[in-house]
Amino acid sequence: MTTAVLSEIHGKVGLIRINRPDAMNALNDAVVEGIAAAIDAFEADPAIGCLVLTGNDKAFAAGADIGVMKSFDYMHAYQTDFITARWERIKTARKPVIAAVAGYALGGGCEFAMMCDMIYAADNAKFGQPEVKIGTLPGAGGTQRLPRAIGKAKAMDMCLTGRLMDAVEAEKSGLVARIIPAEQLLEETLKAAQTIAGYSLPVIMMIKEAVNRAFESPLNEGLLFERRVFHASFALEDQKEGMNAFAEKRKPSFKNR
Ligand code: HXC
Repeated sequence: MTTAVLSEIHGKVGLIRINRPDAMNALNDAVVEGIAAAIDAFEADPAIGCLVLTGNDKAFAAGADIGVMKSFDYMHAYQTDFITARWERIKTARKPVIAAVAGYALGGGCEFAMMCDMIYAADNAKFGQPEVKIGTLPGAGGTQRLPRAIGKAKAMDMCLTGRLMDAVEAEKSGLVARIIPAEQLLEETLKAAQTIAGYSLPVIMMIKEAVNRAFESPLNEGLLFERRVFHASFALEDQKEGMNAFAEKRKPSFKNR
């Protein structure tokens, strides 16, 4: 793995840090490949129950690397299937991924954060889709995930004007799950991730799959999917353990099966 991405294990949590501080964590191939490889490794590790993706205190990521992208022509973008080829590894992760965002999350950075299952924002976080200012448009899901997160009015405003949204507005609008003081962002995010990773992994994966289904299906199909995985949870030893532990007034010991 390259130094453009650092990965660490904290208990049951896999932490992935984007590490291009000189370029505001702009997303080049090394970063995107590094994130994908780290996700591959954490997904394959049965000791890991939750992932956290973060940047540094100034930038989660200020977007795709403009220096690299500026010379792309149509055939290059199309033939290499730019974005689709490797950027969407976060989307296919089955374990939960939390984005811990401090500073700028712009363009592809905002889109990367939105591919995660939820965003915890430092109080200095700034979100935006400023591609319009450089002659292009959000291309990694921004035009689709942003309206689903914050509604059409604000998504149009952000994509068409390129304005930034601060943490307070992002939280009020539903883009982020929590605002955390910047100096505590990582610690608090890791704490929440450890909580999640302490539960039964198959149950966590079922919950993630069911909630994501809400954005992929009509209500009745989503409810049917939920009911089927809910029924399936009764096949788990962890369901017996969780409910027996409650009845016996003790802490459950989940075995991830
Ligand atoms: C390449 C970038 C970069 C980027 C910052 N840098 N963003 N390099 N690609 N996206 C580099 C700068 O060139 C500079 O390098 C260094 O990081 C520090 O940035 P400054 O601009 O000097 O810092 P500051 O004045 O604090 O401004 C921070 C900023 C600004 C507001 C984040 O850098 C900015 O506006 N960046 C571009 C944001 C953007 O347009 N993102 C969308 C990209 S398009 P040097 O060498 O000069 O020190 C996109 C496409 C998505 O993401 C579609 C598919 C993914």
